[in-house]
Amino acid sequence: MKIDGNTTIVGVIGYPIAHSLSPRMHNAAIQALGINWCYLPFQVAPENLEKAIEGMQGLGIRGLNVTVPHKQAVMRFLDWVSPEASAIGAVNTILNEGERLSGYNTDVEGILAALRFGADLENLPEKVVVVGAGGAARGIVYALTTVTDVRHITILNRTIPKAERLAAEMEKMAKEKTEIEGKGLDGETVRDELGEAGSGVCETTQGAGLVINATPVGMYPKVDCSPIEDPSVFHPRLVLYDTIYSPEETKLMRLARSQGVKSFNGLDMLAYQGARSLEIWTGTKAPVEVMREAVMS
Ligand code: ATR
Repeated sequence: MKIDGNTTIVGVIGYPIAHSLSPRMHNAAIQALGINWCYLPFQVAPENLEKAIEGMQGLGIRGLNVTVPHKQAVMRFLDWVSPEASAIGAVNTILNEGERLSGYNTDVEGILAALRFGADLENLPEKVVVVGAGGAARGIVYALTTVTDVRHITILNRTIPKAERLAAEMEKMAKEKTEIEGKGLDGETVRDELGEAGSGVCETTQGAGLVINATPVGMYPKVDCSPIEDPSVFHPRLVLYDTIYSPEETKLMRLARSQGVKSFNGLDMLAYQGARSLEIWTGTKAPVEVMREAVMS
């Protein structure tokens, strides 16, 4: 990579940022495109967020990815926020066009492409269980309700009122197309919602076909934790999508695989959301295969 007076800068802001895979992924894509760009990590403490966004305009940084803990807070410093990002309440991509800063949320396309192409789920099942009711879960439930034909979503969360609130809010947005319920993450509820192996429950709309972990439980360094601990709740017709990508096989994935459940990690979602961000900044198609390889190597 040759940096000179014409190099366009893009990057990512977060706190902490040292372990981000985004610089490796985006710089591989930039190299493949043969453009004079460079993607940098910026560690930005919460109290410096406003200054960082002003700096983006002052320095002419073309685009930024936004990660934890700034995805919500950054919205008030932008001139325009996409309908998707404002419905989810989080921005993960900023485009700087000089006079105007625009906010997008490419996690929506990231999860949908990861399910479609990464997990090979061209047709999503009628019922999906989402574990977690935080920011990541919000984006996923929004994506499932607005873009897909999923008919029933159950949000399972340790704190039940949060699951119920998210379900009610998203159901309003789904305009009766999707039924969304919020429940607890206790063993019995998980078993009921997933449908038991051999019970025949999963043959009906009561049994889930897909379970998505949208909590950080099991993420490095706490790799011995799992949001679902009892492997007997899994039946082999389920597919598991874990949004965690470090470690590449989480304890949850290990438990599910022990029961014959096809399981995928969050690397595809990372690559597809990154590809969409790069497309917003460059206006050209991103080399998503290069990006996938970069995060998987
Ligand atoms: P994110 O934006 O990454 O989704 P978040 O908004 O802090 O992060 O949400 C974290 C989610 O993980 C929440 O659903 C949280 O459950 P609570 O609402 O009960 O806090 C869930 N979570 C975090 N730690 C957990 C744990 N040890 N067991 C179960 N769920 C956990």
